Amino acid sequence: MLEKIEQLLKEIEDLKASNAEELEALRIKYLSKKGAINALMADFRNVAADKKKEVGMKLNELKNRTQERIAALKEAFEAQDNGAAELDLTRTAYPVDLGTRHPLSIVKNEIIDIFSRMGFTIADGPEVEDDWHVFSSMNFAEDHPARDMQDTFFIESHPDIILRTHTSSVQSRVMEVSQPPIRVICPGRVYRNEAISYRAHCFFHQVEGLYVDKNVSFTDLKQVLLQFAKEMFGEDTKIRLRPSYFPFTEPSAEMDISCDICGGEGCPFCKYTGWVEILGCGMVDPAVLEANGIDSKVYSGYAFGMGVERIANLKYKVKDLRMFSENDTRFLTEFEAAN
Ligand code: PHE
Repeated sequence: MLEKIEQLLKEIEDLKASNAEELEALRIKYLSKKGAINALMADFRNVAADKKKEVGMKLNELKNRTQERIAALKEAFEAQDNGAAELDLTRTAYPVDLGTRHPLSIVKNEIIDIFSRMGFTIADGPEVEDDWHVFSSMNFAEDHPARDMQDTFFIESHPDIILRTHTSSVQSRVMEVSQPPIRVICPGRVYRNEAISYRAHCFFHQVEGLYVDKNVSFTDLKQVLLQFAKEMFGEDTKIRLRPSYFPFTEPSAEMDISCDICGGEGCPFCKYTGWVEILGCGMVDPAVLEANGIDSKVYSGYAFGMGVERIANLKYKVKDLRMFSENDTRFLTEFEAAN
């Protein structure tokens, strides 16, 4: 019996199989119920008692080796099956899917780029804010309607803690820790309690700007915004400022740009006016400077604020604002080329 086992052990080492059928045949020959090894197992009871230990160990070795060998053969031809044999080394690689930048990030970065070139630095601040930085320091009267539940998300049980409704709160944070000259832009997400529709969402993105120094005038503001409009929408873009009201600026204005769809002729997009509104702006109200620790007799400043979604809508003619937050890759990958 020992001889037989030794002989099989040798045989096993030389086994070959190049496909699944051949391998299965080997498995049946050696390892199945009626296979060679089981036959030896059945014979085992006839082995003399004093040899049982030695034979038993050998028999086990044979069984293990056979299983290992068959597993190794299987692995070998499976690896071949996976194309190793047919690998075409001259073929170009599959392109790696890198994803695309979000259209709002593309537009936000463009806005940041333009103002950076004009000397503005970027300031950042918290989205969960206190009433002081969002409203009080920005000259909102105690009973101003914007503080109302209609517009503002309050953190439950903390009426003083809210989600910021504009990034003017960051301007306040910059002013309270620095003195002029201050020239910052504040990009970020803001929240307002609005019913979600194609033209409004409960969160959106802003870039606000602030410049405080000696002798800052409305002309400076106008010039910077004209430069921005031309760089963002093209050299031929015209701007128009309409008087408006914000608690934190005086005088205040809203800025329109000439409609770049009809070139100012009038079309459904600009509601036949030839103009589309893009931002709010004005001279910083002296009360805001004072509230934030800046001497309004020495310094003056201007501020502006725009919605990134609004600018993206104008640039890409996206009809429904909700597309920006739905994560539909069919929409998002359309902006690949703009990367
Ligand atoms: N904070 C204003 C808003 O959120 C925008 C703005 C900023 C207007 C600065 C004027 C000056 O609507």
